[in-house]
Amino acid sequence: MITLENITKQYIGSKDEIALNQVSARFDSGLIHGIIGISGAGKSTLIRLLNQLESYDKGNIQIFDYTDLRHLNKESTRMLRKQIGMIFQTDHLLSRKTVLDNILLPISFHRKITSEDKKFAQDLLQEVGLSEYSTRYPEQLSGGQRQRVGIARALINKPSLLLCDEPTSALDVITTGQILQLIKATAKNHSVDVIIVTHDMYVIREICDTVTVMDKGRIVEHGDLDDILFKAKHPQTQAFVKEIGLDLSSVVQQFDPKELLLLKFDESIVKDSIISEMIQTLSVTASIVYANVTPHRIGIMVIHAPKRIDEIKLFLEKHKVVVEDVI
Ligand SMILES: Nc1ncnc2c1ncn2[C@@H]1O[C@H](COP(=O)(O)OP(=O)(O)OP(=O)(O)O)[C@@H](O)[C@H]1O
Ligand SMILES: [Mg+2]
Repeated sequence: MITLENITKQYIGSKDEIALNQVSARFDSGLIHGIIGISGAGKSTLIRLLNQLESYDKGNIQIFDYTDLRHLNKESTRMLRKQIGMIFQTDHLLSRKTVLDNILLPISFHRKITSEDKKFAQDLLQEVGLSEYSTRYPEQLSGGQRQRVGIARALINKPSLLLCDEPTSALDVITTGQILQLIKATAKNHSVDVIIVTHDMYVIREICDTVTVMDKGRIVEHGDLDDILFKAKHPQTQAFVKEIGLDLSSVVQQFDPKELLLLKFDESIVKDSIISEMIQTLSVTASIVYANVTPHRIGIMVIHAPKRIDEIKLFLEKHKVVVEDVI
């Protein structure tokens, strides 16, 4: 778990502008966290504090076993950074080094490369789908392939946290989807927590469990993705949600709220096509008026059921769907 308490950060030389203003947040382990905001909101600054690429003026950060990051000595800072892998918008690969040597680079800063390191780097290359590319140079790769190398490199020190700063901003939509799925698989296979910074709500929707919305150096919303999709209060959040066509409030307004049910699914239930089973078994009519169900994550759905809503609720609850009223 990572916690930030009342973090304030002003860059030297910037007059009135505060990069981070009283920022507090909690990032639980085992999850993929998204940070979204428009340019200049403070997203990169926030994640760069976590591995102390930047320092802060006030407040406290707790990460792994470290507290008060500002006063870590050199050795502790080095140990902290070793536990954090970083993926950037552009790949930051060294053009004169081969793919394999680029992956091994974070180790070579600290010690001699062993044959085990090379074996692990090759395993990582295979994992990111580039086992045949170890002797190539970065300029001989596509942008998506370079980003895959960047992911392998971020994992070479076996980190417990991956910080991704706009990892897909330079990629097309299809490659973006592939890289996001790779990050998600990586999080699971290597048991790493992920914090991913983006200005694209699609990225958040695709793989994140939680979302933190930033605006002008402040966190304006922070919590579970589904809750924020539904209950977006801040205009900036509402604008992001609208961008991906998931603006629930405009849909809900068209119905009597007493005839609406909010359903929360997990992946197993999505595969069971529970809604059609319900309609057949109960012989009821119900229409789906809103859905955010992707094959990769827990989904939410709103159904409009003008009649026998209590029976429908009971049936769904029996089938392990979490049912809530839409307020
Ligand atoms: N090294 C720096 N020196 C001075 N000011 C900086 C520095 N880095 C960032 N800032 C300022 O801090 C604020 C937050 O910047 P930050 O890079 O964290 O935003 P961001 O949300 O990551 O934006 P983007 O989406 O464009 O990457 C901005 O006003 C920016 O001008
Ligand atoms: Mg940034």
